[in-house]
Amino acid sequence: MNKACLVMGHRGAKAYMAENTLPSIQKALDFGVDGIEIDVHTCASGELVVFHDFTLDRVTNGIGELSKCTLSELKKLKVDNHYSIPTLQEVIDLIDKKCILNIELKGRYTAEKTCEVIKDCVENKGWNYSDFIVSSFQHHELEDVFRINKSIPIAVLTKASVAEAIEFAETISAKIIHPNFALLTKENVKQAQSKGYKVNTWTVNNPETIVRMKRYGVDGIISDTPDKV
Ligand code: G3P
Ligand code: CA
Repeated sequence: MNKACLVMGHRGAKAYMAENTLPSIQKALDFGVDGIEIDVHTCASGELVVFHDFTLDRVTNGIGELSKCTLSELKKLKVDNHYSIPTLQEVIDLIDKKCILNIELKGRYTAEKTCEVIKDCVENKGWNYSDFIVSSFQHHELEDVFRINKSIPIAVLTKASVAEAIEFAETISAKIIHPNFALLTKENVKQAQSKGYKVNTWTVNNPETIVRMKRYGVDGIISDTPDKV
């Protein structure tokens, strides 16, 4: 319980504002979070956009696959009737080094462009590589990140097994794992940390679970309600 536990807003501050939108990111910043988690996809015109699902139906007034739409088509849509789908660059400009940005690679072919954007931030905009985490369930995308730029911190996401996440992390020199909280015990958190891994867990909203994760000594908690963490 003693060491600091990073507080990361999930999809911005999902419990309060439309997920993965600029107002949601701003809400998380207003809470003073240590980090913000977002999801990215590549759209048909090549830009990285911040969006969770592969299809538009659940949270916008559009339908069908996001990856088949150009940025100008996506920009005409409304998220939760009000907000536009932001690009990764727009989110980066809004955060402007105020906290860590955890970019989850969701769609296909996202690694190369994400690495380019991060490199540009570091070389031209005063960011440090340590201001970023690139996470994914998609191992091949993380392998691409590792191949392209070895300075970018990589986190292996898992909802299946902490041991398997560590096994894969070793192959790409990743030092962070992002397991779902249901996989964690005090013992496996300690074991992962003794091997040199940071353990950030998701998506922890229940107050009792938040307390339990802190008791386990996790390094970070990703939450829809970061103000409660
Ligand atoms: O990055 C943690 C968490 O966001 C992974 O699950 O489905 O919310 O993207 P999901
Ligand atoms: Ca995510």
